[in-house]
Amino acid sequence: MAPVTDTLQRPMRDLRISVTDRCNFRCTYCMPKEVFGPGYRFVPRDQLLSFEEIVSLVRVFAERGVSKVRLTGGEPLLRKDVEKLVGMISAVGGIEDLTLTTNGSLLARRAAALAAAGLNRVTVSLDALDDTTFKAMNDVGFPVAAVLEAIDTAAEAGLGPVKVNCVVKRGANEHAVADLATHFRGSGHIVRFIEYMDVGSTNGWRLDEVVPAAEIIDAIDAIHPLEPLPANYPGEVASRFRYRDGQGEIGVIASVTKPFCGSCTRARVSAEGVLYTCLFASTGTSLRDVIRAGGDVGGAVDAVWKRRDDRYSEIRSSHTRSPVPVEMSYIGG
Ligand code: GTP
Ligand code: 5AD
Ligand code: SF4
Ligand code: SF4
Repeated sequence: MAPVTDTLQRPMRDLRISVTDRCNFRCTYCMPKEVFGPGYRFVPRDQLLSFEEIVSLVRVFAERGVSKVRLTGGEPLLRKDVEKLVGMISAVGGIEDLTLTTNGSLLARRAAALAAAGLNRVTVSLDALDDTTFKAMNDVGFPVAAVLEAIDTAAEAGLGPVKVNCVVKRGANEHAVADLATHFRGSGHIVRFIEYMDVGSTNGWRLDEVVPAAEIIDAIDAIHPLEPLPANYPGEVASRFRYRDGQGEIGVIASVTKPFCGSCTRARVSAEGVLYTCLFASTGTSLRDVIRAGGDVGGAVDAVWKRRDDRYSEIRSSHTRSPVPVEMSYIGG
């Protein structure tokens, strides 16, 4: 099948599937407690895609050139039997890289089963190394030690090198940059520092709370000298750097100060089967409705991708943010 490209000549390569919009953390920049409280209405169970439906979508995307699948949430390990889903997706021809992004809270006891089912790697979020900062950011009092244990257990299970994602927010965890870089140097794990983004509409994002990637690099370079590395593959979102003394690498994801829409090949499917072509989208196309009506899912995907013109991060400053964009916990990171 000839590869489908969008209006900016970008092919479809990665599929990010949110398997639940629920999470056991309430990170202030993602699911603030005041909004995602006890009365919050998550997607009802019967509206979620079943595993069979998810796998049927993976097949459709694989036929169109997608070779990379990432399971996200919310917290994907809250979805019952997600190991079974991993096994089903890993059996689909053409999927070369199957990964999962998790907050690490439930990972230690499930890493071995996930690896056995065919998961290739994991990315674990960790925003600080000290409990005071981390607990304030996850806002449920979850301790750092349990996440560190999960990272090591995952690597031992064969899910490494583990990527550790840290969202840097001015006034909240800037000191975590040096702490995390120093801690993971020489460990084989790769920390990536992410610029705080204006995703969704509930986190009260302000530009002055973004710590630019250049500042993050300078802070690390000052204590452990760095040099740039080339991208692993075209369209990699992280810019890579290695420690000059050979103690490994770090990455920065500069989606605010250096947007990478030009090479964005990512399609996103929400837990209820809505296809979005941008992290900042406000509307999408329900593939679940097409599946449940017995329609032509491949045709629907092609039609959406062919008219895709998203480049939100590149034109952020000229944007008026309406209608309301979807939340990160709904669409996946
Ligand atoms: P690998 O390189 O395969 O490990 O994955 P990745 O670099 O795509 O990493 P990951 O999926 O963990 O993404 C890291 C973070 O980058 C996400 O959590 C988002 O915060 C940000 N990000 C990923 N994709 C996009 C994107 O398409 N647009 C924007 N603006 N940010 C993105
Ligand atoms: N800005 C940047 N990154 C974010 N993430 C969640 N919300 C934001 C935001 N507003 C990150 C999480 C996780 C990944 C899925 O996305 O910390 O690492
Ligand atoms: Fe949950 Fe991840 Fe959002 Fe934190 S960033 S609330 S762990 S989905
Ligand atoms: Fe892709 Fe949208 Fe992110 Fe740009 S802002 S890189 S188009 S998801």
